[in-house]
Amino acid sequence: MIEVLTPVEQKHHLPALPYPHAALEPYIDARTMQLHHGEHHARYVAELNGALAPFPDLRSKSALWLLLNLRKLPAEIRVAVHASAGGHVNHGLLWQAMSPTGGGVPLGPLGDAIARDFGSFNQFKARFDEAGAGLRGSGWVWLARALEKGGGLEVLTTQGHDHPLMHGRFPLLVNDLWEHAYYLKHENRRSEYLAGWWPVVNWPEAARRYERSEHSTDEKSPRFPWTKQPF
Ligand SMILES: [Fe+2]
Repeated sequence: MIEVLTPVEQKHHLPALPYPHAALEPYIDARTMQLHHGEHHARYVAELNGALAPFPDLRSKSALWLLLNLRKLPAEIRVAVHASAGGHVNHGLLWQAMSPTGGGVPLGPLGDAIARDFGSFNQFKARFDEAGAGLRGSGWVWLARALEKGGGLEVLTTQGHDHPLMHGRFPLLVNDLWEHAYYLKHENRRSEYLAGWWPVVNWPEAARRYERSEHSTDEKSPRFPWTKQPF
């Protein structure tokens, strides 16, 4: 028998966008935001709830916990949870990574760390754009920090909906490399989309995440980063 969950019983929910669909114009067009948030992200949430429906014990787990503990899940839902929990978590971070009042340069400790680890802010941007353009297929490009104490910053890409914490990195900033993120406005020109994205980057949010990453070394600590995730 297929169990049907009412909305109240569903563990995972589509987070509201922190700004209107058109707020990132002209850099990200409103129609792309409508489809990206209201259709694509919503579908990942629905798929995650659907996959978990026959397993009540798993409904108490956060999407990030599920993503980081795939081997503990029943084999028949592992693939579905990998894709849907990853899509949910990563898109949640993406909406926060952008802002209508974004752009500029990162200041404070994050700005210092970028200058230290990449040489300069412009060299970091070039690395990020190059990595994003170079990923084959669908995925994500990240500014992330190694989890070990004093971990340095890195630009990395992940395939599909993989998340940096699956690879020992704490995410600070993210952009979406799936075609649904840019095809309406930029068609197949991913590099153009990446180069035009910087004016909406929410550097204060990235700086907050950098400060939070200072507490990322002890998995038993209540301040370990994924305990703070809203998903
Ligand atoms: Fe996306």
